[in-house]
Amino acid sequence: MKEQLEKIYENATSDLTEASCISDLDEIRGKYLSRKGEFNEIKKNLKNLSDEDKRIVGSLANEITQKLEKALKTKHEEFYKKELDAKLAKERLDVTLPGKYIPRGKVHPITSTTNEIVASLQSLGFSVVPDAQSPEVETDYYNFDALNVPKDHPARDVQDTFYTTIAQNIVLRSQTSGAQIHAMENAKPPIRVISPGRVYRNENINARKNNFFHQIEGLYVDKDITFGDLKGVLNEFIRIYFGSSRPTRFRSSFFPFTEPSAEVDVQCIMCEGKGCRTCSGTGWLEVLGCGMVDPNVLKNVGIDPDVYTGFAFGMGVERLAMLKYAIDDIRLFFNNDVRFLKQF
Ligand code: DAH
Repeated sequence: MKEQLEKIYENATSDLTEASCISDLDEIRGKYLSRKGEFNEIKKNLKNLSDEDKRIVGSLANEITQKLEKALKTKHEEFYKKELDAKLAKERLDVTLPGKYIPRGKVHPITSTTNEIVASLQSLGFSVVPDAQSPEVETDYYNFDALNVPKDHPARDVQDTFYTTIAQNIVLRSQTSGAQIHAMENAKPPIRVISPGRVYRNENINARKNNFFHQIEGLYVDKDITFGDLKGVLNEFIRIYFGSSRPTRFRSSFFPFTEPSAEVDVQCIMCEGKGCRTCSGTGWLEVLGCGMVDPNVLKNVGIDPDVYTGFAFGMGVERLAMLKYAIDDIRLFFNNDVRFLKQF
């Protein structure tokens, strides 16, 4: 029996050396140490031995099972650590790696420029009129007549204005100035509003002109409004919008709906006033038209020009964006070239 025990131990030890994972160890434990294991089979036969032999074989069996238990335990720890290390290495997560780039859409530069201009003017006390008060498809009354534009004015020509086939008097608006009329029809002075939007002109497209573009109209009507107020507001707007003082100039001009009228030029950013292709060699770029609201316009909406005065302005969004970001071709805004749009 003693030899039998030693033989079993020898087999168990060699099984143990060949074991390579925890489940091998479980198998060995089952084979040798479980209730039905080989050692227990021997222990069952102990009762047939003499007391003396029982003691010797019994203690040898205990000693051997203990040694085997211990060896199994050591192996188990070793395999457990190895398997854990392998698992950890496999599941390792490097939190310092850069994340996956998810491309996102961006706000179009015309939209963001419009938002910036609107925010600048809001900070000066102007509020935006509801969209319903500045339609892109207008009657010629709002686009021209109410604005004191005579019937024979060249701007009304089909070469300048897009007429629709809806009706003879319905046009794609050529300016946002019609919003002034809607604003004055819908509220009593004091009125201090702005109206951003798209306008259409029957132009030959080139680096400086597109057949649609964007404007922001402004109107301030109250008692005692002067040209000085107009200059103050526009100079302050330019300081806010460009973030520093840019050389600007007021140039006298003519618009049927303002008297006196002016245009504001900002120094060309491309050549810093030296003269280049973008500014046609003048060193200046016109960014807006403005003036004191013509008394005829006030009369057209039932406001008494002897009591109230006002100023108005209309700025070109594309021009202001080009001047801020040094963009030399208006067509870039509308080509939808991602390489251009990505930069904003
Ligand atoms: N509507 C003019 C244009 O499109 C710009 C303009 C000039 C607007 C004078 C005004 C203004 O409100 O007072 O060229």
